[in-house]
Amino acid sequence: MKGARITAIGSYVPSRRLTNTDLEQMVDTNDEWIVQRTGIRERRISRADEYTSDLCAAAVQDLMKRYGKSVQDVDMVLVATSTPDFSFPSVAAIVQNRLGIPLTSGAIDMSAACAGFVYALHTAHALVSSGLHHKVLVIGADALSKITDYTDRSTSILFGDGAGAVLVESGGDKDHFLGGNLGSDGSGAQHVYRTGLADKVNGVELAATGMLVQNGREVFKWAVRTVPQGVQQVLQNAGAELAEVDWFIPHSANLRMIEPICERLNYPFEQALYSLEYFGNTSAASIPLALDLGIREGKVQNGQRILLYGFGAGLTHAGQLVSLSLDPQVGAPTPY
Ligand code: UT7
Repeated sequence: MKGARITAIGSYVPSRRLTNTDLEQMVDTNDEWIVQRTGIRERRISRADEYTSDLCAAAVQDLMKRYGKSVQDVDMVLVATSTPDFSFPSVAAIVQNRLGIPLTSGAIDMSAACAGFVYALHTAHALVSSGLHHKVLVIGADALSKITDYTDRSTSILFGDGAGAVLVESGGDKDHFLGGNLGSDGSGAQHVYRTGLADKVNGVELAATGMLVQNGREVFKWAVRTVPQGVQQVLQNAGAELAEVDWFIPHSANLRMIEPICERLNYPFEQALYSLEYFGNTSAASIPLALDLGIREGKVQNGQRILLYGFGAGLTHAGQLVSLSLDPQVGAPTPY
């Protein structure tokens, strides 16, 4: 096995803000309820002509500018998303062409909802550490505003748009991916979905509105139960202790879920990083956005151990402990 590491990161959010006050004009809700129950203050919303592939391209442009990186030698593009521009072709193929990535590169979308970025990271690590690939572009991106029902107060207050991208490259002898854990439980498929061809799962009739539908309570209970167990499994697989984890980055679904997850783990809440306060729940983008926020704010440093944990529709979950070893930055991040 060869080593692998994350060498560069970039991210992007659209410029249009949707605040809690804006939402008060759209549905029967209020800023106090939203902040108390979720911790979310604002979300970013794509333009009508701006799609997931556009968010991906902008995140990679940020990465290239900051780290002086080229994508000319990328040999695999993995895009984790639940809101692809089309069922097919893939966002990954569109991004490959847009960014001038070689025609010999593989390109594939991965569907694991809010756990998608960590699933894609796991795959990139497997591809690079096996020696099959050398430079894998991993993007988590979602334009959830395109499938959010802005008449439904239980979902419209949660979701936003964004993208985060990283490069996974050979890391010499040392593997910076210290351990991971994957899981799924399709018996909960009906709790968060958007229908496609079928309108029934597990014998349950689904609402074929073309919009995202969520039973928030059920997903909440499942995640608060499942994520702490998953984190312990990551640590066991990595042979690491929780006390060695410098930053914990759970999926930014809701601040009121991150608190009990930290409590159950007995992990200091101050060392949890999240992107939900000003970006909402951005699904596959939420973890790379939180990581990049931590880097942009100077909190997250090379050499630190970071535990990422995604969870969501499927129901799926995925965790990874990494030791950060980014290349030096040569340019400033593009402001959000
Ligand atoms: O990213 C994929 C994974 N997704 C998640 O992990 C989401 C997990 N779930 C959640 O984040 C939370 O369950 C929600 C934020 C979706 C909902 O929060 P909650 O504390 O679970 O509220 P609830 O659904 O139990 O509703 C409590 C009350 C209800 O009123 P009654 O029946 O008690 O009178 C709702 O009708 O709050 C009401 N309510 C609202 N009130 C004001 C629901 N949404 C709103 C709203 N504004 N936007």
